[in-house]
Amino acid sequence: MRLMESSDPWRRAPKRLRADRFLDGLITGQGMKRFVKGLLQNPGAASLALFTREIWANPRAMGAACPSAPSLASYMASRVPLDRDGLVVELGGGTGAVTAALLKHGVLPWKLVVIERSPTLAHHLRRRFPQLRIVQGDAVQLEQLLDHDRSRGIGSIVSSLPLRSLHPATTRAIGQQFETLLEPGGLLIQYTYDLRGTHSRLLPHFHPLSARVVWGNLPPARVEVFERK
Ligand SMILES: C[S@@+](CC[C@H](N)C(=O)[O-])C[C@H]1O[C@@H](n2cnc3c(N)ncnc32)[C@H](O)[C@@H]1O
Repeated sequence: MRLMESSDPWRRAPKRLRADRFLDGLITGQGMKRFVKGLLQNPGAASLALFTREIWANPRAMGAACPSAPSLASYMASRVPLDRDGLVVELGGGTGAVTAALLKHGVLPWKLVVIERSPTLAHHLRRRFPQLRIVQGDAVQLEQLLDHDRSRGIGSIVSSLPLRSLHPATTRAIGQQFETLLEPGGLLIQYTYDLRGTHSRLLPHFHPLSARVVWGNLPPARVEVFERK
């Protein structure tokens, strides 16, 4: 019987479908159904459930085990100067932890554009932040994704992209987008789990301005601020 099950076509289905089927299986029991319902009514837990599901579907692109902790999100947001002209572009909005912190910090909703590659997470972000412009797409095509918003200029880029776990060619292409889009003096704020920091080779046209480890995140993360030369 087990052998017959292993020839079940869903085992050969894409990982996302397998995850859906797994969740369906979980919620057939009454107790589990109540548990999952309770989970989804709690925004923090719902974000965690969604994040976990996305890791299963695309571990490389998620590049983290959990959503950003509030301490990491608020420290990233606090690095964004509020007195600058131009847009604040958040890359890899995920479940919205950093997005919420940026709004709390005082970034005006009309100045904030959020880019997220995953259609599921982009949909989640649109529901969570109906007042914001959420663009679903790959940061490799940032220039095209921003389209007419580009004419407003970009003051800061806040990135949660897992640059170390993405393919090196993707990381290089994203680095080139940063260079093209940020004016001299523009800021790039990003975090890395490599506590030694980002290698200067990755961002040759940027000066490192500051770096601090946020120990309260899981795992601890180093927030780095770079200025476009
Ligand atoms: C570390 S997770 C985001 C954490 C987020 N701050 C949170 O708390 O949920 C990285 C995010 O970057 C997104 N991502 C990865 N590669 C991307 C790319 N090339 N373009 C846009 N988004 C990307 C992933 O889908 C994921 O949502």
